[in-house]
Amino acid sequence: MKIAMGNDHTAVEMKKVIREHLEEKGYEVVDLGTDSSESCDYPEFGEKVGRAVSSGEVDYGIAICGTGVGIGIAAGKVKGVRVCTCSEPYSARLSRMHNNTNVLTFGARVVGPEMAKMIVDEWLDHTYEGGRHERRVAQLMDIENR
Ligand code: RB5
Repeated sequence: MKIAMGNDHTAVEMKKVIREHLEEKGYEVVDLGTDSSESCDYPEFGEKVGRAVSSGEVDYGIAICGTGVGIGIAAGKVKGVRVCTCSEPYSARLSRMHNNTNVLTFGARVVGPEMAKMIVDEWLDHTYEGGRHERRVAQLMDIENR
């Protein structure tokens, strides 16, 4: 399974920790940067992750900024993207099962590396349940067409 990762300058170290964690688990990571601690703008990297998911180049995306909020807003602007921005594993898990999220974001200034690994694992280890959720997810996607 292929996962795109993107981050701003606040999350270079966190991205490395999560990238290594994912690679140890056998995921292929497409790292879309940044690797620089120079101040940069999170929308660029959120959009890159969103586009990689939307185009089908990767299966899922993980994007990290200071809070996870800005980069999540950016990724979520790309058609076909459903973002979960969270700081604990329960919401990450339910966002896969109920909302079929395809991009996960969190804040390098909000969670530590071990919590981040738990969030990522819980998100990737669960699948969409479909069923009663299908109508609601279809309604979400329909918003993009209006
Ligand atoms: C950068 O200072 C910070 O604003 C950014 O990483 C992020 O938290 C935005 O949502």
